[in-house]
Amino acid sequence: MSAIYEKTVKRIEANVMPTYAPKQLFVRGEGCRLWDSDGEEYLDFTSGIAVCNLGHCHPRVTAAITGQARTLVHVSNIYMNALAPALAEKLVAESGLDAKVFFCNSGAEANEGLIKIARKYGNQTGRNEIISMENSFHGRTLGTLAATGRKKYRQGFEPDVPGFTQVPFNDIEALKKAITPKTCAVMLEMVQGEGGVIPADVEYLKQVRALCDEKDLLMLCDEVQCGMGRLGTRFAFQSFGVAPDAISMAKGIANGVPMGAVLARREFADLLTVGTHGTTFGGTALAAAAALAVQDTFDHEKVLENCNAMGAYLAERLTAIGKKYSFVKGVRGKGLMLGLVLDCEAAPVQKLMQKRKLLVLTAGECVVRFVPPLIVTREEIDRAVAIVDEALAEFDTERKNGK
Ligand SMILES: Cc1ncc(COP(=O)(O)O)c(C=O)c1O
Repeated sequence: MSAIYEKTVKRIEANVMPTYAPKQLFVRGEGCRLWDSDGEEYLDFTSGIAVCNLGHCHPRVTAAITGQARTLVHVSNIYMNALAPALAEKLVAESGLDAKVFFCNSGAEANEGLIKIARKYGNQTGRNEIISMENSFHGRTLGTLAATGRKKYRQGFEPDVPGFTQVPFNDIEALKKAITPKTCAVMLEMVQGEGGVIPADVEYLKQVRALCDEKDLLMLCDEVQCGMGRLGTRFAFQSFGVAPDAISMAKGIANGVPMGAVLARREFADLLTVGTHGTTFGGTALAAAAALAVQDTFDHEKVLENCNAMGAYLAERLTAIGKKYSFVKGVRGKGLMLGLVLDCEAAPVQKLMQKRKLLVLTAGECVVRFVPPLIVTREEIDRAVAIVDEALAEFDTERKNGK
């Protein structure tokens, strides 16, 4: 191990709160590749968990960041910068909705924005409860934890913020039953990410939309992970043809520069009047410049076309490989958000891939998650799939030997 690796590990152990347990130290990235501190090259099919959607150090984003860093990094939101409004205009135009945008800094904060808009709307008629989905993940702040449908994230941080209930995902009857006179909104991910790469059924989403219209509820979509081109459309909802009332974004929005955003239909957006919501860094010039460069790249580099073509190719190749192994149940997902579903824990399989220098994620307990940069090539997928095959074969042998 390199000296910098040893030093970094020691520094983390001594000074950094132990919320993560990282083992790799990366020092450089380019496209779908990362290099560790020993100079070893890895194929990155995590994109920093669906963040670096255009790959590491994309030239347009790098140029935007460096140029903006020389010009103006930040002024408070009590003043204007010209970039955030230009970005808002672009996001609204791409959404096709009559909407407005609020900028913040992370996925959890964007979801807090969704929750606050829903409460502000509902409280006008005495309603402030939100129904979210089992298995969902919405963030680590207290409000978004209460919306999150997996108890393990909340444990130890009780009491839960009140006003949230969860129902099974893709089950319209359960949702109907859960609605009370206090309900003001329904919140969901169109493809559940952390929960196991589980796509919503189109028919279900249409029914949710109709139910929200009928009962005067806001349909809130968390696009933090599945948005920003990941499903092959700019917004995740466009892949399903069902338009929500408000959408949260983060992760890929600025390709790695921290930024979040809420986009809400005008009638709801305008409820957040002066002084009712805010955040110091929201829409800061540096992040907005990076996000505009991301949009520019979508406009000029056929990123979505590549996502659709490579998503189909990766799904097909994983499905074919999976058929060789009894413990692989199949492949699910959309675009370049794909899960290899196992009948056992996914973490050991992930480790075997990492050993061969392919970085992937797990999701739920039993899913190996593939979220490569949207610019991934056929050759990179072929390399990755060959590693997946080798890792599955090794895992198969281990299982047969009773390890
Ligand atoms: C669907 C979804 N929502 C919200 C979040 C929270 O985002 P952040 O970690 O930026 O707060 C995540 C993070 O993984 C996510 O996947």
